[in-house]
Amino acid sequence: MGLKILGIETSCDETAVGVVEDGRQLLSNIVSSQVQLHAPYGGVVPEVASRQHIRDMAPALEKALSDSQVDLDDVDVVAATYGPGLAGSLLTGLNTAKALALSLGKPLVGVNHLEGHIYASWLARGSEEPPEDSPGFPLACLVASGGHTDLILMEGHGQYRLVGRTRDDAAGEAFDKAARILGLGFPGGPEIQKASDGVAGDEFPPLPRAWMRDTLDFSFSGVKTALLHLAQAQGLYPRDPESAGSKDVEEKVNRLVGEMAANFQASVVEVMVVKTLEMAKRYNARGIVLGGGVTANARLRADITGAASLPVLIPPPVLCTDNGAMIAACAYFQYSRGEEFGLDLDIDPALPLG
Ligand code: KG4
Ligand code: ZN
Repeated sequence: MGLKILGIETSCDETAVGVVEDGRQLLSNIVSSQVQLHAPYGGVVPEVASRQHIRDMAPALEKALSDSQVDLDDVDVVAATYGPGLAGSLLTGLNTAKALALSLGKPLVGVNHLEGHIYASWLARGSEEPPEDSPGFPLACLVASGGHTDLILMEGHGQYRLVGRTRDDAAGEAFDKAARILGLGFPGGPEIQKASDGVAGDEFPPLPRAWMRDTLDFSFSGVKTALLHLAQAQGLYPRDPESAGSKDVEEKVNRLVGEMAANFQASVVEVMVVKTLEMAKRYNARGIVLGGGVTANARLRADITGAASLPVLIPPPVLCTDNGAMIAACAYFQYSRGEEFGLDLDIDPALPLG
């Protein structure tokens, strides 16, 4: 009988609970998304998010247990994200985990959200071999989400060194803002990807790439501003309400939006691919690991896999975005190396990794 870990994730706007056996076997993974709730605002509203977590937690927990066919009494370890993230959101997940650990008399493990994203690559899928300790350490990890764009050198389980980060917007944040400029929905990443699908994106000159040579840091605010100026010059921002209704105008607007979305996506993706490969080279990495919502991006996945000469581990898209299974997978390795957490564990909205 393997070690069954219940993983809870509420750092942002997904109420997520997963059950994982021995850090690899995904038994269930329930994600209650609040996307519809936040969509009208074009971004996550923290107060709205924390209230919704309270409503969604018990149903998500029940469904995760029933899907996994694991009784609450058979859960061996209870894990939850305790940072980084939105304070009010983190509190619901961590307090639920504490209450469960206390009432079941089982150990509690607090997980760093970014470390969780990295461990999504350890979850078994299909016939593919999960990495265990292959291809070996060190691994060059790119964690790209709504709040982070970090290059993290993983020197072993639990051993991290932050070697690059964004100096302004996170990649996901840039995608979300670009989608707003182009009049697309929220979250912006999947919308930009959809609008770019099958589009060359070469009607306008390439949007800028902030290379910032000699550093592995990122900057995405410049490309966002350049997109804004392009959209303004083409009369797309602010959008003329008159443009809706006329078929010809709508077609033209859709074409321009697709062109700009593809151009923007190409810029953000290229910088992430080049910097991740550069990091892997500089630190003699044995492999590359991707994690975080932005790494669900099809263009990024295809480009980095095509360009790298090292093994590239990318979770399936549903495990790139926030989920509880990755928290349970990560907790398994923390628990195995004897990390202990008391019931006085507090949330840490700015918790660093490495
Ligand atoms: O990791 P995640 O689910 O939550 C945070 O920890 O922030 O990442 C959410 C971010 C959002 O900004 C969303 O627009 C972006 O991931 N995202 C994508 C894609 N799917 C989600 N960005 C680009 N392409 C995608 N397909
Ligand atoms: Zn995340």
